[in-house]
Amino acid sequence: MFFKNNKEPHEVFTPRQSKVNPNMYVARPDLEARLRQSLTGTQHVIVHGESGTGKSWLYKKVLADMQAVVLPINLANASRFGGIAAEMKNALERLGTATQTGYSETKSSEMTAVLATGGLEHEKTFALGTKEPFEACCAHLRKEAGKHPACIVFDNLETIFESDEMMNELANLIVLLDDERYSEYRIKMLIVGVPTGVRDYFNRTRNRATVANRLQEIPEVSRLSQSQTAELVKKGFVQELAYDVQSDVLSRVTEHVAWVSDRIPQRIHEYCLEIAQLAQERDKLVGVDLLEVADAHWLSRSLSNTYSVIENLMNERDTKIGRRNQVLFCLGRVEGDEIRLSEIEALVRTEFSRTTENKTLDISTLLSRLAQGDDGVAPVLRRSPKGDTYQFADPMFRMCIRAMLIKDSERQVVSKRSISTIAAGGAV
Ligand SMILES: Nc1ncnc2c1ncn2[C@@H]1O[C@H](COP(=O)(O)OP(=O)(O)O)[C@@H](O)[C@H]1O
Ligand SMILES: [Mg+2]
Repeated sequence: MFFKNNKEPHEVFTPRQSKVNPNMYVARPDLEARLRQSLTGTQHVIVHGESGTGKSWLYKKVLADMQAVVLPINLANASRFGGIAAEMKNALERLGTATQTGYSETKSSEMTAVLATGGLEHEKTFALGTKEPFEACCAHLRKEAGKHPACIVFDNLETIFESDEMMNELANLIVLLDDERYSEYRIKMLIVGVPTGVRDYFNRTRNRATVANRLQEIPEVSRLSQSQTAELVKKGFVQELAYDVQSDVLSRVTEHVAWVSDRIPQRIHEYCLEIAQLAQERDKLVGVDLLEVADAHWLSRSLSNTYSVIENLMNERDTKIGRRNQVLFCLGRVEGDEIRLSEIEALVRTEFSRTTENKTLDISTLLSRLAQGDDGVAPVLRRSPKGDTYQFADPMFRMCIRAMLIKDSERQVVSKRSISTIAAGGAV
């Protein structure tokens, strides 16, 4: 017997796959430990992080390792179906348990009653056929889990912000789990969403002190570390695809991937998928020469909206200096999330020393324009509440700028990598 590796790029690099691929999963020991601890504690848990940072893979991995039984509730569906209870019903039906466990819609007002009166008489025995969806879920989960942990995951919290009704519905469920009747099921809730979402959630929930008391946050799920990024790239190309890649090439490819993707897991997969598909076409040979084409493919396939925003912001090609282009380029060089005026000014002066010598640069005006957004174009920056720093309005802008803008050191001007050449099959 011999081992034949015939995995396809899209089976290895899976930017949008919700199911965890254990072969590609990069361990995140700190976050995993925090999540595990929180899940074994007495409070319910919040996981927050920007889109694509790996929240879903993280909780799925940790819960699977704990042998927990999980009921995923997609709050995006709750918005479509008009309520969390409705989505719980769907979730139960998907599990094919509705008939076994049973629930009755007429009882669903009971939940509100419990909260209003501060408790309901505890019924020692209740008929299986009369549970409202939430209790039916709890009962089902506990039955399935036996001695193992049982968890309801509410993912995509941000999708219900606009609805006070659903926000309160969720808050009510959290409080309800303390009620004797529900607490015996020992169900953990895990709430997952983007950071602004989570903050808003606390601010907008009616009984926020009560709810906040019952919730614990783990640290923000954010970009991978350099070494985790390297591990991911190596797993993909070497271990899973068994491509032909020299070690010095691998480190240069990794460095570039880390830079353009901002080390966001989803973006790393996306970008590596581009490289892998290009390499596949030429005998699985990975080379540094593929990066330029990969940049263009990635920009056009995954960042095209962002690309056009930046494109619209750029000075016309023939302005002499193109100060705004220089500033955009330098925004991409900033490593941290906070962008300081002084840092940008210093960067512009070093990167473009000749065109800035003995000149006053009105960087402050340029930055505040980028934070205002022009003529229906989305703002690229967001000013901090204190007003002294900026952040990218969306992390995608940074990635896009990094992959898109090219500095001509000779002429000290910045130009864009064109994505229109791709259709013709050419490099850029
Ligand atoms: N720990 C990880 N190791 C390897 N790849 C990951 C990891 N976490 C996430 N990914 C990749 O990133 C993609 C997006 O992750 P996901 O968990 O769906 O992000 P989020 O839920 O934060 O939007 C996944 O489909 C997967 O390809
Ligand atoms: Mg997710």
